[in-house]
Amino acid sequence: MERQPKPEFFHILRTQQFDRAILDELCELTTAIRKFAKTKEGLLYLRGLLAHKRAMLYFTQPSTRTFLSFNNACQILGIQTSEIRDSATSSEVKGESLLDSLRTFSSYVDVVVMRTNAEGLAENAASLFDHIQRRVPIINAGSGKDQHPTQALLDIYTLERSFKENGGIDGKTIGMMGDLKRGRTVRSLCYLMKNYRNVRLVFIAPDDFAMGEDIKKSLQSHGVQYQETKDLKSVLPQLDAIYITRIQDEHDKAGESKQVDISAYKLGVDHLKLMKPAAVIMHPLPRRDEIHPDVDTDPRAKYWRQERNGMWMRVAIFVKLFKVDHLVMHGHLLD
Ligand code: ASP
Ligand code: CP
Repeated sequence: MERQPKPEFFHILRTQQFDRAILDELCELTTAIRKFAKTKEGLLYLRGLLAHKRAMLYFTQPSTRTFLSFNNACQILGIQTSEIRDSATSSEVKGESLLDSLRTFSSYVDVVVMRTNAEGLAENAASLFDHIQRRVPIINAGSGKDQHPTQALLDIYTLERSFKENGGIDGKTIGMMGDLKRGRTVRSLCYLMKNYRNVRLVFIAPDDFAMGEDIKKSLQSHGVQYQETKDLKSVLPQLDAIYITRIQDEHDKAGESKQVDISAYKLGVDHLKLMKPAAVIMHPLPRRDEIHPDVDTDPRAKYWRQERNGMWMRVAIFVKLFKVDHLVMHGHLLD
C-alpha cells in the first residue's frame, strides 16, 4: 500500500486539517510542557527555546483569553511579539488592503496569529503567503462565525484530560448547547469528532440557533452519530460532557436574537443532580448567564481549567510549528 505523506504542520486554519495522530501528539506535548513549567529551571529552559522567533498578533475582533493566552504562550517560549488590536490604528485606514497589511507583517515576523470578523480570511492570507518568498505560517485565532481551531484543540485537551481515567474521548456522549449555528467553537470541535471512536453528539438548541447543515452533513459522512433536542433535562443524565455556548449576537443583523426564548438553554445548580458524577462541564468563555456562577464550585465545572489549558496548548502549537518538539519530549527535565 502506498504510504501517505504526513500532513504538513504549518498554517492552522480549520480543524478538518487535523488527524488523530496530530491531536494525540499535541496533547502529549502540552502535558510535557506543563511539567517543565512546574519549576523555575523548566521555565527558563522553555524561555530559551524560541527566543530567536517573532510573532504578530493581529486581533481586530474583541478577545480576552485567546489574545492573552497566545501572548503569554509567546512569553513562555521567549518569542517576541508585535500586535495590532484595532484596524483603525493600522494603514488599513489609508486604504491599504488587508492582504497587503498581512504581507507587511510577514516581512517582520515568523508567524502571524489573526482573529477577524471575516470568514475565510485566514485561508486567503495563507494562500497569499504560500506564494511569496517569505512564507510564514498563519494561525487562525477565530474567523467570524466559522472556525476557532486552536480553541477546539484546547477543548480536545481538556476533554482528554478530564476522561483520562475513563478511556479518553472515545465512546463518550457529548452535549453542545446554546448558539450552535453561529458558535465557531462548537463548529470547530464537531469537525474533530470523526477522529474518535463511537462519539455521540447531542445538540441542545432552539430552532433559530440549531447546528448548521454543513456540520451535520460532515458528521453524517464520517459516521458520527448526533441527535437534536430542545429538552436539556431529558438528555442531561446521558451526557459525559456538556459544552455550553453564549448567544453570538454580535452577528445579528437587527437584534433578532432578542426575539428567541433562550431561557431553557442555561445550566443552573438544580441541573447538577441530574448529571453523571464524572460528567464534565465546559464553556469556551466569555459567559453571560448561560452557566450560573454557583456551578463554578462543582468539581465537574472545568471551564476555568479549560481556559488555562488554552495557554499551554498554544505553547505546544508554537513548539510543534517551529519544530522544537523533540527538545521538549526528550528534554532533560523529563528524564
Ligand atoms: N470566545 C469564543 C469565540 O471567540 C466564544 C465566544 O465568544 O462566545 O468564539
Ligand atoms: N474563548 C475565547 O476565544 O475567548 P476570547 O473571545 O476572550 O478570546
